[in-house]
Amino acid sequence: MNLLRQLAIVFFFFEVTVYCQYEMHRLGEDYDEESDDDYSPPFYFHPTGEDGIPSRHGPLGCAQECFCPLTFPLAMYCDNRKLEAIPKIPAHVQQLYLQFNEIEAVTAHSFANASNLKEINLGHNRIKSHKIEHGVFAQLPNLLQLHLDHNDLEDFPFPLPNSLERLLLGNNAISRVEAHAMEGLINLTMLDLCHNQLHDSSLKEQLSQMSKLMQLNLCSNRLESMPPDLPSSLMHLSLENNSISFIPDNYFKKFPKLLALRISYNNLQEIPYDTFNISSLVELNVGHNKLKQSFYIPRNLEHLYMEDNEFEYINVTLMCPSIDPIHYRHLTYIRLDQNRLKEPISSYIFFCFPYIHSVYYGEQRKPDGQMVQLKTQVFRRFQVDDDEEEEEGGDGEEHEPEGQEQGRTEENFDPYFY
Ligand SMILES: *[C@@H]1O[C@H](CO)[C@@H](O)[C@H](O)[C@H]1NC(C)=O
Ligand SMILES: *[C@@H]1O[C@H](CO)[C@@H](O)[C@H](O)[C@H]1NC(C)=O
Ligand SMILES: *[C@@H]1O[C@H](CO)[C@@H](O)[C@H](O)[C@H]1NC(C)=O
Ligand SMILES: *[C@@H]1O[C@H](CO)[C@@H](O)[C@H](O)[C@H]1NC(C)=O
Ligand SMILES: *[C@@H]1O[C@H](CO)[C@@H](O)[C@H](O)[C@H]1NC(C)=O
Repeated sequence: MNLLRQLAIVFFFFEVTVYCQYEMHRLGEDYDEESDDDYSPPFYFHPTGEDGIPSRHGPLGCAQECFCPLTFPLAMYCDNRKLEAIPKIPAHVQQLYLQFNEIEAVTAHSFANASNLKEINLGHNRIKSHKIEHGVFAQLPNLLQLHLDHNDLEDFPFPLPNSLERLLLGNNAISRVEAHAMEGLINLTMLDLCHNQLHDSSLKEQLSQMSKLMQLNLCSNRLESMPPDLPSSLMHLSLENNSISFIPDNYFKKFPKLLALRISYNNLQEIPYDTFNISSLVELNVGHNKLKQSFYIPRNLEHLYMEDNEFEYINVTLMCPSIDPIHYRHLTYIRLDQNRLKEPISSYIFFCFPYIHSVYYGEQRKPDGQMVQLKTQVFRRFQVDDDEEEEEGGDGEEHEPEGQEQGRTEENFDPYFY
């Protein structure tokens, strides 16, 4: 990457950080479910005195414990203050930041006048389900976004306001979803339930009414089967790190908008040949399962992650039973390391998938468990031979994933949060 581009990026983030607090808080939730790292928003705004920003309070009132910047008169920042209770919230506040405190209870009293709230961040506190006063959130008719991630919830919070569009509940201990708890959440577009303790039975027919749901994250739970009755509006579905062993016939037929499917780190062994015949699909991650049969590759798929499975042979004829010269398949990248391949894929693959850019073979497992490298470790279609192509090629494709490095894969999977 050249210096100019780096500078441009630095300036871009600088401006975003300064002028776009609200957006940054939304970006802040873009944590990586697959890493064990603690939540660390990349460009977090710390409105404490120490960084030179004078602590002035807006004319509309502010809780003593908090900071209400003049430039963002509808926001109240109370994060990172070791607070044990929620302060009184003035009526004008629309964005309330209470993350990284020691709050255990959510009391209706604090929210008595706060009917204008649109966004509440209570992430990284110590809230238990029974300490949320009944109805405290439901009485906020304008609430669009609620963060309750990284707390000690055991139940899906209920009742919630029907206005809600984004609900972040990751990293709790939720195992129970009461009947009707999700009812009425018709405007929800994003639901994050990763890193909880949900079982198959926790999710009975609960989600089907969310007819605008675009993104559903259920990673790192205890699911053993594919969740039934998901809404057909889904575009991003994240199921990695569960114990799913089976995908029913035609399961994905009802998701005509699905762009990205992550189902790595499960127990998939045999799946129907046309399971992933999803015409909208662009990203598919089935890494770290026990698959061995090649499956049909839909036309729009661009990135395919199949590492750490049991493939001994990739049957290109199965992946691509016919070639339509007018509608070429879009596949550009395949990751195949940690399988049982003895040789690279047949070169027929480049007829089927003319846009293939690289195939990552890495190390393969021998029957005795030892890892070996194939002669070709990485296949690259386009060698970089002039500056222009270096510009075009992008950094993503230049560096291949090294060994079992997980982060690299995830970088290729960015259209994940909006
Ligand atoms: C709500 O507003 C009323 C009237 O302005 C005020 O008396 C009361 O103290 C406020 N309550 C809270 C919890 O802020
Ligand atoms: C849902 O969203 C639509 C469109 O933004 C809005 O008109 C409607 O009032 C919302 N419903 C609720 C219950 O807030
Ligand atoms: C997978 O899920 C288990 C619990 O279900 C959790 O302990 C573990 O950290 C998760 N692994 C990853 C990589 O998130
Ligand atoms: C894939 O699905 C399309 C319809 O969406 C169908 O026409 C086609 O036969 C299917 N292909 C395979 C191999 O299942
Ligand atoms: C690949 O799949 C085709 C179609 O099912 C089959 O005819 C062929 O024998 C397979 N090739 C190998 C080497 O298994």
